[in-house]
Amino acid sequence: MLAKSMKCFTAMPIMVDKSLDKNKIKRRKRSITNSFTALSLFSGGGGLDLGFAAAGFKIGCSSDIDPFSCNTLLLNKEKKNFYTHASAITADIKKITAKDILKEAQMQKGSVDIIIGGPPCQAFSVFGQRKGLTDPRGNLVWEYLRIVKEVQPKAFVFENVSGIKTIHDGKLFKDILKKLTLDGTYAVSAHSYEVADFGIPQFRNRVFIIGAQNGVIVPPMIPTHGEGRLKKHRTVKEALRFLPAPEISNQIPNHIGRKHSERIITRYRDLEFGERDPKTRINKLNPSRPSYTIIVGSDNGGGKGHVHPIAPREVTPRESARMQTFPDWWEFYGVGRHVIRQVGNAVPPLFSAIIAEHIKQHVFGEKKKRTYEDFIKILRVLS
Ligand SMILES: C[S@@+](CC[C@H](N)C(=O)[O-])C[C@H]1O[C@@H](n2cnc3c(N)ncnc32)[C@H](O)[C@@H]1O
Repeated sequence: MLAKSMKCFTAMPIMVDKSLDKNKIKRRKRSITNSFTALSLFSGGGGLDLGFAAAGFKIGCSSDIDPFSCNTLLLNKEKKNFYTHASAITADIKKITAKDILKEAQMQKGSVDIIIGGPPCQAFSVFGQRKGLTDPRGNLVWEYLRIVKEVQPKAFVFENVSGIKTIHDGKLFKDILKKLTLDGTYAVSAHSYEVADFGIPQFRNRVFIIGAQNGVIVPPMIPTHGEGRLKKHRTVKEALRFLPAPEISNQIPNHIGRKHSERIITRYRDLEFGERDPKTRINKLNPSRPSYTIIVGSDNGGGKGHVHPIAPREVTPRESARMQTFPDWWEFYGVGRHVIRQVGNAVPPLFSAIIAEHIKQHVFGEKKKRTYEDFIKILRVLS
């Protein structure tokens, strides 16, 4: 059963699909051998989780303060063989300990391969007021640190907006990097990536701090897509391919558009690609380019999508999810702003899978097995 409200700490039970036959279970077991174990913090609607799962990480437990996000993770459990393990704790991270998370994951301290997570970025984002540590959300980075210290995973990934590098004149970022070494326990490296340069149909610049107990400094990934590279940037047109208009299909989850007045429809119709509407202050997408960054919008998460490149309307949450490389089978729990918040906050799952594979290779010594094209097939995106 999905949780409807959040108490201070609600452990979500693992749901078992009784319709699975034994053969199916055997096949699933085989397909997840060589998997690594992970815990996820600030999991949101599961972008980072989904990519890591596709790359072979078994996420023992996820957690988030937002019950809609946790329900999204459970809603998608059992749909694919690499995502059968979801379990989520709905709680304020300040109120839980590593013990709670390990217990939910049925794991021991020291047995976790990796902790993944992206603490809230609003305090650092150039789209917000940039209050940094004077915004209580900014201080949640120290909660991430606390859990890493308590769990002692072999590695960790800390994701955030690029703005985190420059807030408080760069002092906070330096401090985070230093503290994340946990007195020399972890070798730490910071990586800034433009995800469009890795084949995501969206411009989105993010920082990933990677820590490894075995002393490995992870080398940067080399961009693969864009001007002067072997492959072209993926585009809005490709992201939206074969997606029926929302008024035609009610089969695809989270594909419900807003109703606009005739005045707005006329204004949206007259916009050029890339032009901003002066009233709603959102841009019309260019079908031949990657999308602008998909964002949450206002602090309350009531944001809008961009303007659709062809139809005179704002994009639906599903269309934004397509630009974020969430597959159509991944359903978001909730309506309207709950979904927009989960989609806008996420790490694109396809990018998450690519960086997870890179970490597997460099931190855990796995031979690189899966490529960008493999992950497109595994996740079922951009096809
Ligand atoms: C940037 S989003 C994470 C997105 C996620 N990594 C993904 O890829 O989908 C940050 C998350 O932190 C959660 N959060 C905010 N305050 C929290 C708190 N006090 N305790 C736990 N989670 C919190 C938010 O609900 C949000 O989902």
